Amino acid sequence: MFADRPGMLGWACSLRPRSPARRVRASHGLEYRPLAGEEGTAFKMSWIKVCKASDVAPNSLKKFWVAGGIPVVVANYGSGFAAMPPVCPHMEEPLEESGVISNCVLTCTKHLWAWNLKTLAQEGTETAKDIRTYQCKEENGDILAFVEEEIVYDYDDDDDMDDASFFAKS
Ligand code: FES
Repeated sequence: MFADRPGMLGWACSLRPRSPARRVRASHGLEYRPLAGEEGTAFKMSWIKVCKASDVAPNSLKKFWVAGGIPVVVANYGSGFAAMPPVCPHMEEPLEESGVISNCVLTCTKHLWAWNLKTLAQEGTETAKDIRTYQCKEENGDILAFVEEEIVYDYDDDDDMDDASFFAKS
């Protein structure tokens, strides 16, 4: 079932908390403690290893699954790394396939929205939404991300348009 997701087997075999809040907390491979109101204690967050730095070639993106099944795309923009949700904030295009990186700028080739991965500033004239990222750092050859909860974009109704409708509207 999780053959394509290294590290998932243990999770698949373990009991998982039922509520979304509990699932998010447990999904990061972090110590889980009951939520406030249950037994009144806090839980502990920490950085999660996503991959090795050498797993992602310069100027490329690669998708990984962190413990519990949250997809994270790691981008190597040459002078650093960024970790982000796997889809474009415009129309949910999978960035691993549509994203191109050049001069630290990630461009989604579907409709040319672009962002500078160093500054996270929007680039070009088409881009209308910020890209969101997880805090990310390289440590001892590993890429770590701080995933407090899964980042999910809100999409407008227009985001569901097919390409013909999108370009007809422009
Ligand atoms: S889906 Fe990425 S720019 Fe439109």
